[in-house]
Amino acid sequence: MYKIAVIPGDGIGKEVMEATLHVLEALDVELDYTFADAGDEYAEKTGIPLPQETIDIVKESRACLFGAAGETAADVIVKMRQELDLYVNLRPVKSYPGTKCLFDNLDFVIVRENTEGLYIGMEEYTEDGATALRVITRKASERICRFAFEYAKKTGRSKVTAVHKANVLKKTDGLFRDTFYKVAEDYQGIELDDRYVDATAMFFLTKPQMFDVIVTTNLFGDILSDEGAGLVGGLGLIPSANIGEKQGLFEPVHGSAPRHAGKGTANPSAMMLSAVMMFDYLEEHEEARRLENALIGVLSEGKVVTPDLGGSSSTMEMAEEVRKKLED
Ligand code: NAI
Ligand code: MG
Repeated sequence: MYKIAVIPGDGIGKEVMEATLHVLEALDVELDYTFADAGDEYAEKTGIPLPQETIDIVKESRACLFGAAGETAADVIVKMRQELDLYVNLRPVKSYPGTKCLFDNLDFVIVRENTEGLYIGMEEYTEDGATALRVITRKASERICRFAFEYAKKTGRSKVTAVHKANVLKKTDGLFRDTFYKVAEDYQGIELDDRYVDATAMFFLTKPQMFDVIVTTNLFGDILSDEGAGLVGGLGLIPSANIGEKQGLFEPVHGSAPRHAGKGTANPSAMMLSAVMMFDYLEEHEEARRLENALIGVLSEGKVVTPDLGGSSSTMEMAEEVRKKLED
C-alpha cells in the first residue's frame, strides 16, 4: 500500500487526473490517496495558491500525482520543487506508435538539475542593464550526476552524456563537467561522453538516436527537454518526474490549457505516462509496463483517441479503452 498525494489542480489537470485515476483502479497495486488543493481556483477562493497543508500532505506521502496549475504554476510547482528539494527533473523522450513523431524508435531520457544554475532567480539591475547569477555547486552537480549513472544502471541503459558549455563557462560548467567525470569513476562499464549544449541541440534534430541518458544543468535541461518533446509529438503525450531523496512528484509537462478545459477532450496520455513513471519510481515495474502497454495498444490502434491524436473520442472514452485493455 502506497500513500499517494493527489493534486488535480486547474483546468484540464482535473480532467486528465480523473481519467488516470479511473484507469489505475484496474492495476494490481494498492494506492491510498490523499487529495490536496493547489492552483488558480484554490487561490481565487482563499488568496493562497499553495497552502501549507498541501505541502505537508505531499511530505507525508511516498509520491504525488500532480495535474496542472494555471497562472499560479510558478507559485505552486516551482515552490513545491524547492520545499521538497526535488533535485531531479526527469524527462523521457520516447516515441509511441500512432503519434506524430519526427523519428520512430526514439528512447532516451534527460536528467535535468532542478534546484540551481540560472534558475535560483538572483537577478538585479545595474546602471545600464541587469545581471543574473548562475550558481553551480559541487554538491548539486555530484548528486545529479550520481542520479544519472544510478538511473542508467537500474534501467539497463548503456551510456551517459554530460551536456554543458564549459568552453565558455569555464568555471561553472567546468566544475559540472569535472564532477561528472569524477562520479563516473564509480560506474565502470557504463559508456560516457560529454558534449556542448549547442551541438547537442543540433544533434537532437539530426541524430537523436545517439543519446541514451543526458545529464545537464537547469536552464540547458529546460530547453533541451522541450526540444525533446517536440521530437516526439505533442504536449498531450509528455510526462515528467520531479524526484528528491524522500519523494517523487509526477506530472504531465502540459499546463491547464484553459481553452480546452471543460470540454472533456484533453489527451490523458501525459498524465497516464506520469503514473507509469511513478510506478517505476516505486519499483512497481510490472504494473508500470502493464499500464504503458495498455496505453500503447490504444495509441497504435488509433480508434479511441482524443482530437489532438486525430481521433474524436473524449478523455474518459480514451481512459475507458485503456482500462478495457488492462482488464482483458
Ligand atoms: P498548456 O500546456 O496548458 O497548453 C498549450 C496547448 O497545448 C493547449 O492549448 C493545447 O492545444 C495543447 N495541449 C496541452 N495539453 C494537452 C492535452 N492534454 N491534450 C490536448 N492538447 C493539449 O500551456 P499554456 O497554454 O502555455 O498555459 C496554460 C496555463 O497553464 C497557463 O496559466 C500556465 O501558467 C499553466 N502551465 C502550468 C504548468 C504546470 O502546472 N506544470 C506547465 C505549463 C503551463
Ligand atoms: Mg519548461
